[in-house]
Amino acid sequence: MGILEGKVAIVTGAGRGIGFAIAQYCLEHGAQVVLADNVPERIENALSRLKAFGDRASGIVETVATRSGAQHIVDHALKKFGQVDALVNNASITRDRLLAKMSEDEFDEVIATNLKGPFNCAQAVLPHMTERKAGRIINLIAASAVAGNVGQTNYAAAKGGLLAMTLTWSKELARYNIMVNALIPAAWTEMSQSIPKEVLIKVVGEEMYNTLRSRKPEQVAPVVAFLISDEAEGITGQCLGIAGQELSFWKYAEPKRTVTSRQEAWTIQEMKQLVEREGESLWSDPVSPFL
Ligand SMILES: NC(=O)c1ccc[n+]([C@@H]2O[C@H](COP(=O)([O-])OP(=O)(O)OC[C@H]3O[C@@H](n4cnc5c(N)ncnc54)[C@H](O)[C@@H]3O)[C@@H](O)[C@H]2O)c1
Repeated sequence: MGILEGKVAIVTGAGRGIGFAIAQYCLEHGAQVVLADNVPERIENALSRLKAFGDRASGIVETVATRSGAQHIVDHALKKFGQVDALVNNASITRDRLLAKMSEDEFDEVIATNLKGPFNCAQAVLPHMTERKAGRIINLIAASAVAGNVGQTNYAAAKGGLLAMTLTWSKELARYNIMVNALIPAAWTEMSQSIPKEVLIKVVGEEMYNTLRSRKPEQVAPVVAFLISDEAEGITGQCLGIAGQELSFWKYAEPKRTVTSRQEAWTIQEMKQLVEREGESLWSDPVSPFL
């Protein structure tokens, strides 16, 4: 019996890449899966590759970026399978450009899909999950959420916001037995390939570029399936990372050091002295100006 037998998962952005690999892996392990994507050919192609799973795989062409789209996805899952055990917020886009050149549309589109999309989908499924007192939400974020990334004002803001929503929802929803976690994946997909090779090599170096190319979406999927499974009961408010064979457990942002002023309030002079005295031990890793 598959570890996900009897479970129903919605995977957004499942038409290709990591979302498709998650959907396929969940199906292989017994789940019923709704694959949602806003590009019809991607859903068509995904479903034809998943034919072997018959009715356990169901596709819907819909966007997560609107309230009605998200509701439609959840309604489809409930109609088709009668319940939703897990929502995997994977759908995402990039519109990379330096801050100085980013258009308002580029900013808004990414926020609408990558930040508001998960909010729309979570709100649409929430009444069902709270009523059943059971549910899992897995939000796919990115390292730029916590580290920033050149050219990704919009994407980093959305993923940072999604991490903040993950932590907030985990606190709000634990009482309903709804577990909410974030995952930072790394895999060679069409999204990663959209960054020109020369730029990527300039940023990460040739060796890392080859490592990036070797990381597969199929290596991300088991981590998501684990978080959906009964084995992950009680795990919530966590951020995991998966890059090839490397599984990481992320720590929340917390003060690196706290120094108490000897006076009632810190003065500029006192801060100056502290910085001169303690120097590097105060600061987080410096920004690398690679471009
Ligand atoms: N690939 C990586 O290395 C990497 C790194 C960090 C984070 N991520 C995150 O992992 C997730 C999957 O990334 P990927 O590399 O597979 O991306 P991808 O571009 O290959 O796939 C994303 C899918 O989402 C769909 N999509 C886009 N907008 C949508 C919308 N409004 N409604 C429904 N579907 C929509 C696309 O059609 C596409 O099929 C994303 O959240 C991405 O931000 C990926």
